[in-house]
Amino acid sequence: MGGGDIDRLPAVGPATGEQLSDAGFDSCLALAVASPRELSTATDIGEGTAHDVIQAARDAVDLGEFETGRALLERRNRIGRISLLDEEVGALFGGGIETQSITEFYGEFGSGKSQFTHQLCVNVQLPETHGGLGGRAIFIDSEDTFRPDRIESMVRGLPTSVRTALLAQRDIEGGPTDHDTLETLVEDVLDRIHVTKAVTSDHQTLLAEKAQELASEYADTGWPVRLVCVDSLVGHFRVEYPGRGKLAERQQKLNKHLHDLLRIANLYNAGIVVTNQVTADPDSFFGDPTRPVGGHILGHASNVRVYLRKARGDKRIVRLVDSPNLPDGEAVVRIVEDGIVPEELC
Ligand code: GTP
Ligand code: MG
Repeated sequence: MGGGDIDRLPAVGPATGEQLSDAGFDSCLALAVASPRELSTATDIGEGTAHDVIQAARDAVDLGEFETGRALLERRNRIGRISLLDEEVGALFGGGIETQSITEFYGEFGSGKSQFTHQLCVNVQLPETHGGLGGRAIFIDSEDTFRPDRIESMVRGLPTSVRTALLAQRDIEGGPTDHDTLETLVEDVLDRIHVTKAVTSDHQTLLAEKAQELASEYADTGWPVRLVCVDSLVGHFRVEYPGRGKLAERQQKLNKHLHDLLRIANLYNAGIVVTNQVTADPDSFFGDPTRPVGGHILGHASNVRVYLRKARGDKRIVRLVDSPNLPDGEAVVRIVEDGIVPEELC
């Protein structure tokens, strides 16, 4: 990987970066596992500076941490599920979209990927008794896709009992009053979706780090972050790293980004939902048009993969693919004004 990776370290200027790259220390990981003596021998850098560079590299890479078996079990016991309020889809997902893992929605344009992210931003806010997690959402938008008015329709479209339950959660003394109308509910829901636009892949990666800060900020409040959506995950990376020659670099950067997201998932018990377009472009790297762009690394990092297909009219086929602990299967939903609804509704 080019020097770009290590050039971003605060302790490394352009000249030092070049020396390190020439000596083969061309990634943060290579630096993180080196010793100051090794670095200063292979380059003109003094041992003091080498120490700082290694420290910065260790901060920049995720070397992993140890966790006891019991802590792991306790964490796994806290896994929550964000429901889609549809029995058939619920059965498919074993209840809903899980926290502490990455769920990838992939499909061609118009298959409903963005609609699912919007609906989940609403549903995550519902009380647990009604399929939600009583949490807020972060939306990293790389395609200018987020629509507040769509959220409004989805809130209005919630079943009345669910809407009432959401209203009852209003954080005011004595519960909701007559003044708490649907409008205020919509405002509340929008207030709990934190949207940010990513203009480049590097920006997107930084925003994931920012998202972790936001998750930390709200961790001990009544409305913790329980969902992070990235729509779309791969778009910028695909444009900025075109061709086979850039594939390895692109995958490495995507991998880092995904691991940043997974860290938020684990530390703050949040669900991560990313979208990925499939392309029928004959020039694409991956011959099979039903495969998501992003290739293998994405496959390993996303724990649950959902393939969306257009069917007649507003119907969409939701297919669970390669889940580690759920059987593959399909369900059908409809995308209507009220949001994503069960097939039999309407
Ligand atoms: P790309 O981002 O282009 O790859 O597509 P996508 O998979 O994100 O598609 P998206 O989620 O934007 O789904 C688009 C489909 O959802 C449209 O074709 C419409 O059928 C439906 N849809 C989107 N917005 C609305 C809406 O406000 N009302 C209704 N009834 N349907 C909508
Ligand atoms: Mg979209």
